[in-house]
Amino acid sequence: MPASPAAYLLLHLFLRLTAKTCYECLIDGGQFCLENNKCIGNSTEIKCEKSVDLSINCPSVPALQYAYDDEFVRYTVLPVIAAARRPDPQVCLDNQLPTMKAFKRREANCSSLFSDVKCAGYTGYDETRKLIVLSIRGSHGVHHGTIPFFDVGRVTKVFHDNFESLWFGGLGEDLHHLIKTYPDFEIWITGYSMGASLALITSAYMALTGMSHPHNMKVILLGCPRCTDYQFAMWHSMNFPYSYHIIHAHDYAPRVPFFDNIDNISLYHPRTEVWYNNEMKEGDGYIICEQADQPFCSSQIQNLSTPDHMHYFNMDITRWADHGCPKNREDFKPIFGTHQRIIFEEEKDSKN
Ligand SMILES: *[C@@H]1O[C@H](CO)[C@@H](O)[C@H](O)[C@H]1NC(C)=O
Ligand SMILES: *[C@@H]1O[C@H](CO)[C@@H](O)[C@H](O)[C@H]1NC(C)=O
Ligand SMILES: *[C@@H]1O[C@H](CO)[C@@H](O)[C@H](O)[C@H]1NC(C)=O
Ligand SMILES: *[C@@H]1O[C@H](CO)[C@@H](O)[C@H](O)[C@H]1NC(C)=O
Repeated sequence: MPASPAAYLLLHLFLRLTAKTCYECLIDGGQFCLENNKCIGNSTEIKCEKSVDLSINCPSVPALQYAYDDEFVRYTVLPVIAAARRPDPQVCLDNQLPTMKAFKRREANCSSLFSDVKCAGYTGYDETRKLIVLSIRGSHGVHHGTIPFFDVGRVTKVFHDNFESLWFGGLGEDLHHLIKTYPDFEIWITGYSMGASLALITSAYMALTGMSHPHNMKVILLGCPRCTDYQFAMWHSMNFPYSYHIIHAHDYAPRVPFFDNIDNISLYHPRTEVWYNNEMKEGDGYIICEQADQPFCSSQIQNLSTPDHMHYFNMDITRWADHGCPKNREDFKPIFGTHQRIIFEEEKDSKN
C-alpha cells in the first residue's frame, strides 16, 4: 500500500474512528473482525476469516507527519546504518552524506562465551540537517530468556546485556555530550539485524531515563529480530510516533524468536512494520502493516530466507560498507538472485 498522502490521511481518519471500537471490543472479551471492522463478540458462530484478538493488533497506521518515506530510508538512513559496519564510519558518511560527522565509535565485548565477539556503535551529528545519529552493529548471541526492563515489560536478556556493554562502555556518555551540545537536534536511532534490536532497546532506555522525548526520535530498524514481550511492544508502540522496522521479503531474522521457551512468553515487534515482499528495488511497493505483529503481515510467511536478510534496498549492505559505501551503488547489488531462498527450519513454538 504505497499510498498517496491524501489516501493516508483518509485511512488514518477512518482508522481513528474505528480503532476505539476495536479496543473496546477486545476489553469486552470479544474479537474484532477486520473484514467489516465490526466487533463480533466471542461467539464462534459468526464467520470472520481475519480477526484481531489482541489490542496491539487493532488496526492503525502512523499519523501523516510521521509517514514512512522509502526514499528517505534508502538514500539517507541506509548509509548511516552501513557505516556502523566499519571501524571508520566517516568513510561511508563522506561518500554519502558529507555534512554528517561521526563523533565517536565504541566497541564492546558482547558475548559471555567468546572474547572476540564484539558489537559496536557510533554516534554522529549533522549541523546542516540538525540531527544526532546513533547507529549500532550487533554481533551474535545465545538466547537465554528475557529480563524486566524498567516497568514497561521484558526484553531479551542477551540483547539487554549487549546494550549495557555498549552503553556503559561509552556510547551513553557520547550521546549525553551530543545532546548537551545540540539540545534542539532530532535524534535518529538505527541498526541492522541484531544491531536493530540493540537500537530498539536503546530508544526505550533514552525515553525512560528522560534523556530525550520519543517525539524527538526517529527509530529505523532493518531486519530486526524480535526481542520484546507484549507489554513492552505495546508501550513502545504507544509512545514512539516514528518507529519503523523494515522487513525484506522472507528475511528470517525478524520472524525469530517467535516464542521464548525459557520464560514461556510470546515475543512481539512494536509497531510499525514495513514489509517489502519483493527485491526492494527502487519503486518497488511495500506494505505499512496496520497490525503490529503475529499473525499478520510478514509473519504469515512460513518459508524463510537467509539471503533476504543480507540484502536490503537491493544492496548487499556488508559489501557496500566494506568498500566505504561508494556513490555508485550499481556494483553492490545482490550477486545472487534474492529469490534463491534457503529454507530456514524454524520450529515455531519449541526451540528458538
Ligand atoms: C464471552 O462473552 C460473554 C458475553 O458477552 C461474556 O460473559 C464472557 O465472559 C465471554 N467469554 C470470554 C472467554 O471472553
Ligand atoms: C574484550 O575482551 C578482550 C579479551 O578478553 C579484552 O582484551 C578486551 O580488553 C575487552 N574489551 C573491552 C572493551 O572490554
Ligand atoms: C516453561 O514451561 C516449561 C514446560 O512446561 C516448564 O518446565 C518451565 O518451568 C516453564 N518456565 C517458566 C519460567 O514458567
Ligand atoms: C514459499 O511458499 C509459498 C506458499 O507456500 C510459495 O508459493 C512460494 O513459492 C514459496 N517461496 C519460496 C521461495 O520457496
